[in-house]
Amino acid sequence: MLAELVLKNRSNRRFNGKIKVPAKTVEKLIGLARLCPSGRNQQALKFMPITKPDDCDQLFPFLAWAGYLKEWDGPVKNEQPTAYIIILGDTLLGAKFEIDLGICAQTILLGAIENNFGGCMIGSIRREEVRSLFQIPGHLEILLVIALGKPVERVVVEEVKDGNIRYWRDLEQTHHVPKRAMDEILIFPKVS
Ligand SMILES: Cc1cc2nc3c(=O)[nH]c(=O)nc-3n(C[C@H](O)[C@H](O)[C@H](O)COP(=O)(O)O)c2cc1C
Repeated sequence: MLAELVLKNRSNRRFNGKIKVPAKTVEKLIGLARLCPSGRNQQALKFMPITKPDDCDQLFPFLAWAGYLKEWDGPVKNEQPTAYIIILGDTLLGAKFEIDLGICAQTILLGAIENNFGGCMIGSIRREEVRSLFQIPGHLEILLVIALGKPVERVVVEEVKDGNIRYWRDLEQTHHVPKRAMDEILIFPKVS
């Protein structure tokens, strides 16, 4: 059920480091992005799979994790993602990537959940370091990194209280994600 997948698809930042996401699965997820809608059907996004453990280790320090959790430095070594997809915008094909990017990123993550994995979109990237690490050509803009793995953390959705949208962790390390209530996001048309 789509509703279940959407609910289950929380940003996961702690993984079982022993369970690798197979390269074939990563390719399958990129195959889903290939079928996504695209403005003017330009399909200007490119996808770089990162699945070798050594490449994952080298990419990890260039990503920032959970900005609101000031006391947390990101996942420890054996809880780090076991694969990534770097989403790139081909500036030879287009200039505005955001909407295509969002559609593809969410589709990839829903696909990951369906395959019993999970992940997190990472927009806070040390782009120049990542560019030189993987020798990414200058015409490809580094847009987003999707971290993938077998989630080990419990994430729960709750309603925003007092306007506070910051996610937080309790003492059992359950991650809480506040979402605005329906009556806060629904705007009905006024007909005169
Ligand atoms: C465009 C975008 C960029 C994001 N960048 C980061 C990031 O750099 N680091 C991180 O830990 N989470 C990042 N996230 C995850 C958000 O923090 C997360 O979606 C939000 O807290 C809501 O949680 P949920 O995905 O479980 O609903 C990003 C999400 C989006 C959509």
